[in-house]
Amino acid sequence: MKIVQCVLIIILCHLACNIAHLSSISETDKKHPDQVDEDPILIEISWTIHDYVLHTIPTLQVVTNPLLSRQFSPIYKEIFANLKKLNAEYIRYAVWYPYPKLAVAELDPPSDLFQCGNVGENFSINLSCKQSSGVISKVDFASYGTSSGTCGQMQQGVCHAANSSEIVQRVCIGQQQCSIPAISDLFGDPCKGTVKRLLIQIQCDPPQNNTYYNFTYLDTMLEDFLDATDGHSRIISFSTQPNWLFKQATPHIYPDNATFTDWGYPVGTQLVDETMQELGDYYGRLFAWYTRGGFIDEYGRKHISNYQYNWDYTEIFNEIEGEHSMTIEYYTRAYDAVIQGIRRHTNNYDMKYVGMSLGGHNEFSWYRYFLNHSNHAPNIPLDMISYHFYAFGNSRTDPKDWESFFGQLDIFIFEVEQIEEIRKNLSPQTRTTIDEVGVILPDDNIPEAPQFPMIYWNAAAALYAYAWARISRQGIDVATHSQLVGFPELPDLQLQPQFPSVALLNWTTGEGTAKYWITKLLIDTVDIDNDEAVVTQTTDTSGKNIFSQGFISKNGHRWVLIINKRYANVDVFLPGCTGGRMQIVNEASGFGPPTEIILTLSRITLSPFAVAIVHMPSSEME
Ligand SMILES: *[C@@H]1O[C@H](CO)[C@@H](O)[C@H](O)[C@H]1NC(C)=O
Ligand SMILES: *[C@@H]1O[C@H](CO)[C@@H](O)[C@H](O)[C@H]1NC(C)=O
Ligand SMILES: *[C@@H]1O[C@H](CO)[C@@H](O)[C@H](O)[C@H]1NC(C)=O
Ligand SMILES: *[C@@H]1O[C@H](CO)[C@@H](O)[C@H](O)[C@H]1NC(C)=O
Ligand SMILES: *[C@@H]1O[C@H](CO)[C@@H](O)[C@H](O)[C@H]1NC(C)=O
Ligand SMILES: *[C@@H]1O[C@H](CO)[C@@H](O)[C@H](O)[C@H]1NC(C)=O
Ligand SMILES: *[C@@H]1O[C@H](CO)[C@@H](O)[C@H](O)[C@H]1NC(C)=O
Ligand SMILES: *[C@@H]1O[C@H](CO)[C@@H](O)[C@H](O)[C@H]1NC(C)=O
Repeated sequence: MKIVQCVLIIILCHLACNIAHLSSISETDKKHPDQVDEDPILIEISWTIHDYVLHTIPTLQVVTNPLLSRQFSPIYKEIFANLKKLNAEYIRYAVWYPYPKLAVAELDPPSDLFQCGNVGENFSINLSCKQSSGVISKVDFASYGTSSGTCGQMQQGVCHAANSSEIVQRVCIGQQQCSIPAISDLFGDPCKGTVKRLLIQIQCDPPQNNTYYNFTYLDTMLEDFLDATDGHSRIISFSTQPNWLFKQATPHIYPDNATFTDWGYPVGTQLVDETMQELGDYYGRLFAWYTRGGFIDEYGRKHISNYQYNWDYTEIFNEIEGEHSMTIEYYTRAYDAVIQGIRRHTNNYDMKYVGMSLGGHNEFSWYRYFLNHSNHAPNIPLDMISYHFYAFGNSRTDPKDWESFFGQLDIFIFEVEQIEEIRKNLSPQTRTTIDEVGVILPDDNIPEAPQFPMIYWNAAAALYAYAWARISRQGIDVATHSQLVGFPELPDLQLQPQFPSVALLNWTTGEGTAKYWITKLLIDTVDIDNDEAVVTQTTDTSGKNIFSQGFISKNGHRWVLIINKRYANVDVFLPGCTGGRMQIVNEASGFGPPTEIILTLSRITLSPFAVAIVHMPSSEME
């Protein structure tokens, strides 16, 4: 009681002093056209009154794309170096489909004794009988033109270079391997002006069974990711299943160029193998490749990687309700099948799993189904669930519009509350990661979309800080900022847009934007083993202008998060903060770390969308 009284007196004293102090400074501030025309907002923190226990870990997600790739990116070193500097826990790494060659290890189905290739104009088909130490003995099919069909069922199209088969035979028969370019210089041009493909089917002597594993791009990105996050907990999501596991009316053709986007890759709604064994085997082999030095393929042949990696959590699929239109019953069976497949091929029973990864439309019935253990096979763990939140802008260029992000997050929090109720009822041991939290601006993947102004980075950074804080009150385990690096159209690299507004890093330099620096600031400050939230109130009762929350650690460290939700300057009073240290991320801190200021006044001006952490002076000084 006594302490509270004392603190109150100090607050009143500070207030009086500082209001007097600041009247002159305010004169200059008022010239700013975007000053919130209200009295400074008072932040009142009851340092001795417990609010809630803090255990929400701030972190980020990393999604595979060409800018992370050693093969294609001029800045992948900077990107991974900046990832490493975050020292984040529970980082989510999503190996996601828009670039099939970067995300899927076996892009074509195993094809028994037939070996096939199918590439677009100007790419090459590589054929090899090395596996059986044999030679190419028979060309079953070859057509440069508009032929189609899968291995074993190829069909000539209307357009067909008459001598395709003879040409392939001449180049390949009797060879251990051969490479045939799909070019009109070799085959002649059977239909000028039409884009052509080359399809070939051959056999080897002695015969060999054929699979199409290729880890070239997956390996280098995963190596760099695992190196950059070594020593930390990680959640790996091989989100994308080979689409040939699903029934398809006409086979989907993926891009030959590894850097071209294919938003239509996840086709099919029903697995070919309804027992889901084949699905489990794909994941089992993938995991054996990375964690057990290699795997045994569909025909009993060993593929050696020498990788012996390990990570903590594996997430199963991504935004399932969109991709392959899975129902929750279907997904739950698939979740079990993938875990069983991983166990079959790796004998690893210690791996922990993250389920669901739901996108925007959070159906509560899905949580009720998935979190009910009796809907799962025996011995299937429900270690963690995951779901996502994005705020959407209406404008790419008007910062005023971005004030709406915060209200969208408030609505999401109601969903979180309901999901938490379901989780606590059905499976209280299951943890939660909200493993995509971010902002998407309109037309983000349209090449002509205008570039947003730099203050956008601050608006999105403020949204994440706000989301982390609001989510922390719900007791969620992890809140994951989305995502390390995206980009607009980059003509020099021939890259199509990849959600530039979701990026944390600058895509030309690899430097941290405000979104990166806020993530780092929270990671560096939050101490889930020691911090608790204390009751915090402000005179901004509607919460329209600012958000603020005080935290105190067991060792007495007191810190305050303050977020300006407005595209305007907002002034606050934080009694008792003089002599304390403020770290602020705002437009002025740009691509650099937070600006550090020793506070000499209790009045703080927050520029538009600024986020500050104030470390209060140690209590003894009071
Ligand atoms: C293939 O290359 C030729 C020669 O460079 C070019 O004329 C043609 O447009 C290219 N085809 C495609 C589909 O890019
Ligand atoms: C065929 O081999 C060449 C040379 O190694 C390579 O550049 C090309 O990407 C390969 N084509 C396919 C379809 O793998
Ligand atoms: C196909 O091969 C035959 C015989 O070698 C040749 O006469 C003919 O010109 C070739 N046709 C084309 C389109 O290249
Ligand atoms: C191909 O694989 C099958 C098993 O699917 C096996 O029975 C057969 O012996 C294999 N053939 C060759 C030539 O390896
Ligand atoms: C795997 O893919 C890379 C990149 O496209 C290519 O260079 C290589 O030839 C492929 N390897 C096999 C065995 O097809
Ligand atoms: C869990 O699922 C089982 C079987 O589907 C069902 O009988 C039971 O009522 C469910 N439990 C709850 C709490 O919903
Ligand atoms: C594939 O894309 C890369 C850049 O992403 C480009 O350098 C290359 O020329 C493209 N290849 C073809 C054949 O279009
Ligand atoms: C990336 O950084 C460069 C150099 O600082 C800067 O000119 C550019 O505006 C930045 N791009 C974005 C989108 O932040």
